[in-house]
Amino acid sequence: MMTWSSMNFQNANSPIMEQLIFFHDYTMIILILITMSILYLMLTLMMNKFTNKNLLNKQNIEIIWTMTPSIMLIFIAMPSIHLLYLTDEINKPLITIKTIGHQWYWSYEYSDFKNIEFDSYMNKSINKNSFRLLDVDNNTIIPMNTQIRLIVTSNDVIHSWTIPSLGKKIDAIPGRLNQISMLIKRPGLMFGQCSEICGANHSFMPIVMESIPMIYFLKWINSF
Ligand code: CUA
Repeated sequence: MMTWSSMNFQNANSPIMEQLIFFHDYTMIILILITMSILYLMLTLMMNKFTNKNLLNKQNIEIIWTMTPSIMLIFIAMPSIHLLYLTDEINKPLITIKTIGHQWYWSYEYSDFKNIEFDSYMNKSINKNSFRLLDVDNNTIIPMNTQIRLIVTSNDVIHSWTIPSLGKKIDAIPGRLNQISMLIKRPGLMFGQCSEICGANHSFMPIVMESIPMIYFLKWINSF
């Protein structure tokens, strides 16, 4: 969960997010390498003796400094595109949940079962056990180790259903159904917020997914 002074990624709650963090670290290593070598070049430029003052062209170096950056970009683009398409994979989901954005709350429909539907508002009562601005009155309960499809839409303006620890962020657009899939391999609460500026109370429509074992999920479904 994000708290004050959290300056890094949250712990990954899904395999895709794990891979996204690995990709981020890998890209940062390349970025640091480039920054260091450019810094070195700039520093040596300060002490230039102008020995090649009258040199106008050199094919070899032109080839090197054109090819090297393009090869580096390919090394970043390949895993990036791989991960992008892996994220979009649906993988035969067992459960489909519909999420609808409203000004300013989310509502959920579990139409695989008994057409269960409920609203999820931010919890405004604060005590020392609650998470201020992140708690909701009705959590989105999902079974762990299960492939889940989420279809997202909106009732009024554009919202964005976002949970950073799952690496998921998808726009809720009126008149359109967007889909996203997820597999969560551990139990717990996953917090998120709307991330499309959607009006006065944009900051106050958080998302809480509660990942629980399948037997408890079935008990929850049967409690309706
Ligand atoms: Cu809904 Cu911002």
